[in-house]
Amino acid sequence: MRDARPSAIYLKDYRPPAFLIERTELAFDLHEDHAIVEATLHLRRNSGVAPEEALVLHGQDLELQWLALDGRELSAGEYSQSDDGLRIARVPQQFTLSSRTRIRPQDNTSLEGLYKSRTLFCTQCEAEGFRKITWYLDRPDVMAEFDVSIEADKARYPVLLSNGNPVAAEDLGNGRHRARWHDPFPKPAYLFALVAGDLHSVDDHFTTASGRQVGLRIFVEEKDLDKCEHAMVSLKKSMRWDEEVYGREYDLDIFNIVAVDDFNMGAMENKSLNIFNSSCVLCSPQTTTDKGFQTVEAIVAHEYFHNWSGNRVTCRDWFQLSLKEGFTVFRDAEFSADMGSRTVKRVEDATVMRTAQFAEDAGPMAHPVRPDSFIEISNFYTLTVYEKGAEVVRMIHTLLGAEAFRKGADLYFERHDGQAVTCEDFVRAMEDASGVDLGQFRRWYAQAGTPVLSVAGAYDEAAQTYALTVRQSTPPTPGQAHKEPLLIPLALGLLGDAGNLPLQLAGAAPNVESADNTHLVLKVSEAEQTFVFSGVRERPVPSLLRGFSAPVRLEYDYSRAELCALMSRDNDGFVRWDAAQQLAISVLQEAEEQIHAGAAPVVDPLYLNACQTLLEDASLDAAMVAEMLRLPGEGYLAELAARRGGARVLSIHLAREAVHKALAVHAEAAWLDAYRRNAVNTPYAPEAGQIAARSLRNLSLEYLVLARDEHIALARAQFASAGNMTDSLAALKVISQRGSAAQRDEALDDFYRRWKSETLVVNQWLQVQAAVPGEGALERVQGLLQHEAFDLRNPNKVRALVAGFANGNPLQFHRADGAGYRFLGEVIEALNTRNPQIAARLLVPLTRWRNYAGDQGPAMRSELECLAALPDLSPDVFEVLSKSLQD
Ligand code: TRP
Ligand code: ZN
Repeated sequence: MRDARPSAIYLKDYRPPAFLIERTELAFDLHEDHAIVEATLHLRRNSGVAPEEALVLHGQDLELQWLALDGRELSAGEYSQSDDGLRIARVPQQFTLSSRTRIRPQDNTSLEGLYKSRTLFCTQCEAEGFRKITWYLDRPDVMAEFDVSIEADKARYPVLLSNGNPVAAEDLGNGRHRARWHDPFPKPAYLFALVAGDLHSVDDHFTTASGRQVGLRIFVEEKDLDKCEHAMVSLKKSMRWDEEVYGREYDLDIFNIVAVDDFNMGAMENKSLNIFNSSCVLCSPQTTTDKGFQTVEAIVAHEYFHNWSGNRVTCRDWFQLSLKEGFTVFRDAEFSADMGSRTVKRVEDATVMRTAQFAEDAGPMAHPVRPDSFIEISNFYTLTVYEKGAEVVRMIHTLLGAEAFRKGADLYFERHDGQAVTCEDFVRAMEDASGVDLGQFRRWYAQAGTPVLSVAGAYDEAAQTYALTVRQSTPPTPGQAHKEPLLIPLALGLLGDAGNLPLQLAGAAPNVESADNTHLVLKVSEAEQTFVFSGVRERPVPSLLRGFSAPVRLEYDYSRAELCALMSRDNDGFVRWDAAQQLAISVLQEAEEQIHAGAAPVVDPLYLNACQTLLEDASLDAAMVAEMLRLPGEGYLAELAARRGGARVLSIHLAREAVHKALAVHAEAAWLDAYRRNAVNTPYAPEAGQIAARSLRNLSLEYLVLARDEHIALARAQFASAGNMTDSLAALKVISQRGSAAQRDEALDDFYRRWKSETLVVNQWLQVQAAVPGEGALERVQGLLQHEAFDLRNPNKVRALVAGFANGNPLQFHRADGAGYRFLGEVIEALNTRNPQIAARLLVPLTRWRNYAGDQGPAMRSELECLAALPDLSPDVFEVLSKSLQD
């Protein structure tokens, strides 16, 4: 391993590269036990760089065999090698550097660089994986035109792919063949890709707005050819959408997607050769859930959209990662909203923000959307950079309005096409195109932590005014004790007895950003501010943070009756959902306190009746009803409890069970009716109407089984007859959580026998088992580590089983004897050097140790200390451990 105490690098230390690479020629010779990489780099000293400055190239785990400058082989004394690179002291202004390097892709378990996934050779170069392929200036502000040749055994690797256009293919006679590719768009090394394998493709084409034909191909193993249609349809929809909404056309004649089984993340936007985790491409009604179909559509779109937001305009350095990720997540979220239900998509995204990103922002790894330092960049592919980054772009969209935002995007693409730029460049383009001053707004990029927006209302009946006082504050985060006020768009309405009231903001017109009669956006900019509405004829209930207009924690002291009013009558769908959530949380917190005090929990009938009314209203969108009646998870409740003095895992669990059961029993007849009413009788399609019906039907099933034991029969019947994976898996989950041991084991065995040849389905099966409640849960999970279906080298399986247990089985993960923590620690230890990226991600649940009351917090901490004492910590794991243990 490398240095045991890796050091941080800082944004403030950014310097332009001393050398640039104009052209990169790569020749790969792939063999079963090694690969040879020959590279010729056409280098030039950057302007203003002193002639005595040395050339320093990145390189990691490489065996240098030969090195030549302008064709002359360098002797050992003319260069020096270190753990992470190569240094040549004396080089001219402009020169070529040629190298031959030996690497071992088949031993590369980190899934970064060139590696083998089952029978395929493939690459993953973002962020700093290219340096594991050859000596290079592996930084995004060094962009080169690439010429690539790949040579390999023809029978095993009939398909040889790289970026750009194919320029030659030759049979070498000896059972080997070669392909040559040229990418005309200069790109940083992180966008390089190579694939070699026995792949088959589904082919289609797309005609761009200007009439060019683009060949589209999705490459998979032969057995998966029947699972590509949805990804292909999604790709074509994405291409059309980017033309219509952003005026962005595709720029090459081909666009390829390759599916691989072993992949650290979801997918990668390599220029014209996107590489996908197979779980994010392959779909069929039999094997894929509705959620899975939606994920594939969103990720195909995300990677495609990167062609402009990421590839044509890329990042200057990795501190700017959100420049491409935040913007691209915003783009894919809007695409998904346009393809399905906008409100449901917004609810899903707000849920991720509140349950996971807020937790990150409140934890030891908290960092700004544009971090100012890191030890290992792989640890910063976070919810903050991606999702909060997207929320920041969304707020710019809200503040500017759709039209000015589009002008800003046009200016950004025009001004910076072919460049590597910063978040500041993005904001400036938005400002220049719109004339809107985003000076204060920029703090969103620099300041970590979730702002708290505390709102209070005062109604003056005589004056018919309503005053809203808004206070904002952001809690301190590691390294940032003091925070400045932010510019926060606060979308709102006022709800009266007979519906939403017309709004008239007294005297403060500049704060009205956009207005119809009942909806407006306030620009909150100070630590404390009061907004007065006039002509308010009755005491209103404020409908706040509509559409989740900013990534903040909203505090307003609503009564339960007010929440019921918002939940049933407000004209903003997001606020209706949010009110249902707040009501559920207040009922759950009350039950938790009762249980903790040794009393039986009592569930407020106001809540139960409001839920029943909602459920009985068949005119509502079933998807929204399901989202409103789904109780917040135990992990989120623990996070909220941490802010109120410490989470008590057991009483949170019991409280949630009690409220769940109370709502099940109270509305049993309505649940049964919803279950029947939402049966889908048409052939499976992953479209909004069917997805909505299945989601409410399967939620009803969960409640029914809690209402009365006999209803397990409904689950078993659904499991036996389901014709799609959504219904089958939903039934399996209910049976495995709520059925008898015999019913559970029978269903699980049945499912495995049926699906053992479908890896992605087997992974779902692993995840269902990770969440099976009760005492033997940990032992079951440990047993599954030895199962033929498990493989520690495959990140999807580790996520399903190990992360599935830590996140999906809170009671057993937090076992009093600490065995759950020890188990997670052992897996992290096993992966620390083998796959550092995955090992570091598995640490996240333990980093929340400060949230837990009683003995649990210290027990989690001592597991972290145990891991910190290990020798050979990877920089990835070291960074998360050291930050989590800092006082
Ligand atoms: N850029 C990829 C995306 O679209 C993220 C990614 C894929 C990645 N694979 C990776 C990041 C491996 C780090 C390591 O979001
Ligand atoms: Zn991305």
